[in-house]
Formats: sequence, C-alpha cells, structure tokens
Amino acid sequence: MHSVQIPALGTWNAWRDAARRLLAAGVPPEEILWSGAGAERDLFGAQTAMPARGAITVPRSFVEMAQVAVWHSDPERFARLYAFLWRLQRAPHLMRDRGDVDLARLRAMEKNVRRCQHKMKAFVRFREIGAPDAPRRSFAAWFEPTHHTVEPTADFFVRRFGDMDWRILTPDVSAVFEGGKLRFEEGQPRPDLPEDASEALWVTYFRNIFNPARLKVQAMQSEMPRKYWKNLPEAAAIPDLVASAPARARAMAEAAPTLPPARMASAQAQLAGCISAWDGPAEGLPAALAACRRCPLYRDATQAVPGEGPLDAPLMIVGEQPGDMEDLTGRPLVGPAGQMFDRIAAEAGLEREKAYVTNAVKHFKFTPRGKRRIHQRPDAGEVEQCRWWLDAELALVKPKLVLAMGATAAQALTGRREGILARRGGIEKTRGGQSALITLHPSYLLRLPDAEARAQATEQFRADLRRAVDILEGRAAA
Ligand code: URA
Repeated sequence: MHSVQIPALGTWNAWRDAARRLLAAGVPPEEILWSGAGAERDLFGAQTAMPARGAITVPRSFVEMAQVAVWHSDPERFARLYAFLWRLQRAPHLMRDRGDVDLARLRAMEKNVRRCQHKMKAFVRFREIGAPDAPRRSFAAWFEPTHHTVEPTADFFVRRFGDMDWRILTPDVSAVFEGGKLRFEEGQPRPDLPEDASEALWVTYFRNIFNPARLKVQAMQSEMPRKYWKNLPEAAAIPDLVASAPARARAMAEAAPTLPPARMASAQAQLAGCISAWDGPAEGLPAALAACRRCPLYRDATQAVPGEGPLDAPLMIVGEQPGDMEDLTGRPLVGPAGQMFDRIAAEAGLEREKAYVTNAVKHFKFTPRGKRRIHQRPDAGEVEQCRWWLDAELALVKPKLVLAMGATAAQALTGRREGILARRGGIEKTRGGQSALITLHPSYLLRLPDAEARAQATEQFRADLRRAVDILEGRAAA
C-alpha cells in the first residue's frame, strides 16, 4: 500500500508528480491511500517515498480539468482524479464520454472551483491597514472560500493590485503580497480589521447600480450568495433596497420621460449615417456610445454595452450583441455565453483580461415574453449602423488579430454574409485590412441539442481559440 500526503500549498504540482510516478510504476488506485494536509504541521508536508519517474501520456484536456478540480474541498479529490486517470490510460476516449459518471463528477468539481474563484475575485473587500505615511499603501481582507482557491487565484490579485501591499486572510491558507513579492502563509481565525472609508463608497456604488424595476431576489442571491454577505459592506443596504424597490419602481414609471415618435428615430439614424467616422478621444467613447441613437435599439435596452479591456490589446474579441445579463450589468460577455467562452478560453490558454472584448451591436435586441426577454438577432441595418462604434474601437485598439465569434461579428467585420460553419477556422481580412480569425459563437454551442455535435463544435471552438493564441505568440501566421 502506498500512502501519499499532498500538501496544502503547491497541491497541483505535488499531486501531478505523485500521480505520474505511481502511474508509470503501474500502481492501481486501490493500492494508494491519498490524504490532504490536515493539521497545521502538515502545511508544508514532505512527500512520502515514491516510485521513480517514467514516461506516461496524459490528454491535455484531463490536465486542464485536473489542475482546477484538484483545489476542490472534497477530501476524496486526489483519489478520484487518480482513479479516473488510471481508467483513461486504458480508454483514452473517456474524456469525451459525457455519460461517464466519474468524469461528470470531476467536471462538476471543476465547475465548483471556477465558480468559487469567480466569487473570490468579486467579493474580496480590502480594508486599509497601513500607516498614513508608509511608502506603500497596505490592505487586508478576510475571506472564507468554499474550496482551496487562495493559491490558484492569487495571481489575479497580484496583476490587479501590484502597486500596493495586501494580504488575503482565510481559514484555509493566506496570501501575502509585500514589496512586490507573493507568499503564502497558514490560515488563521478571523481578525478584527478596521472599518475603512472606501466601504461607504461601495455602499453608494451599490445603491446607484441597483435598479428597483429589475429586482430579482433569487438571481441576486445566486450571484451574491448569502454566505458572503457578512464580509461585504454593500450587503447591509440590500434589505432596504429590496423593501423599497416596488415603490421606487412605481415612482420611476410615473416620472418616465415621453419618447419621441418612432419616425424621429429613423430620421436621426439617417442623419447619423451621413457622418463618416467617430473620432473622439478614447476616454469619451463609452459616454458617446451611451448617447447613441443611430438605430431604434436604444429605446428598449437598459443601456449601451461598450467594449472593455486594455486599449493596446493585441487581440480584439467580437461577439454579436449584449444578452439579458450584459444589458443589465453593462459589461460584454458575462452571461451564459460569456461564461462558456471563459471556460473554453481558459482551457485554450487564452487570457481574456489581456484582450479587448466587444460586440458587433452594442444594444440588446429582444422581444418580451412574459417576464423574460427573448434574444432577437440584429438585422443587417442595425449591424451596419453599429459598425460606426466597432470601427471606432478597431481604430483605437488597433489589434494584431480580431476574433470574430459568429455570423453577425463576421459580417460586421468583413462585410461578407456567407454561412459561418464553412468559414470557421479561417483568417479573413476586415474592411480595414486587419486579420480576423472567424469562429463559432459560444451561444451556438449552448443551443446545440445533440451531445455529440456539441462536443465536436466545442472542440472546434477550442481549437480556434488555441490558434488565436498561437498567432499572438508568433507560433502561427495570421
Ligand atoms: N452574446 C454576445 O455575443 N455578446 C455578449 O456580450 C453576450 C452574449
């Protein structure tokens, strides 16, 4: 019997190394006792004696899944991963078998960990703890993750808050970033952190973005689960906002401005069409877009959704148009299609934060059905009017490569309206001469009813995203 203890830090590398050695030595799952770091003394626990390394082959898709699932809180995770890897050696097709119970469980674990990482990025709230005259500002946050997500998520905070010192304290492990260096320490009990002036800002911000006419308590609780409320300053405002929402929504309806007659919108659109290109400053783009009346879609949408990302991004990702969630939050690709994109992009090694993400059409087009708003594809005229903004974004960002997701994006960028399935995977030229890699839209993958077709299309989409990465990193030509 082999007994393998995996430490709480460097968990992925430790598990991968142990699994490789055991697999190469032909040790079956039932002869291994896996354990995680339990008590404090095990935090940096040493490896037990292991067989020598040997050559094994592991599908990339397994590695991508395992390096996320390994941070799950299930104590059986190491054993489950190894048992599946063992089976995979004899049946390489298993990674595509959607009916396989073990794979489904590991996929669910992977999803839970990603969700927990997302919550950590969204709900960590720093409080200032440093002396006012210290050379670097210093912050601390208390957080209680459901899974072991501190280590795999710490890089996100390093990228975002690299110019200050900070520590994220949790009962599991803590991340400490000081003087530009990241280290991990043991978990600890909840400390008393001082109140901070920025908390009042959070509450004000939250009160301002809260739309009483769109109150959906269940959706709100699933986005911001109650377990995080106690560490979120803005959560204190929720009961009052919920209670006062009906009255505020009624007052908003009574105060609604009268809209101009419909024929004015088409006159405005024609007028706007006579001007050739938007040439304002980069920082003025979102405000100019918010005032857009080039086509009638602005009338029913909550807001225009501008692109987001670095203005010097080498990659511009173009979707179709905002969906329900994007319309409410004002950010592109954050709903189900966006989440699908994020997952596959992560698998393909494409870092979304480094890309500029936008849509061909900036307002949500829908038809109401009961309480739901059903997506409608924008027509050629709407795509054409909105090209004004897409061209402005292309001119500002000047990406090395554009990723056109779906027929609407491909049409807006290239002017060609042929079917997307025959074009995907190819490089075409935009009207301005930039290289555009044509691919499927992630919502197409979500809609495919047939599991096999969906798996195949997903693989094609992933391959296209990998190709984009290869082009950007100089391994393939655009
Ligand atoms: N679909 C898109 O094309 N873009 C979004 O932002 C959301 C869904």
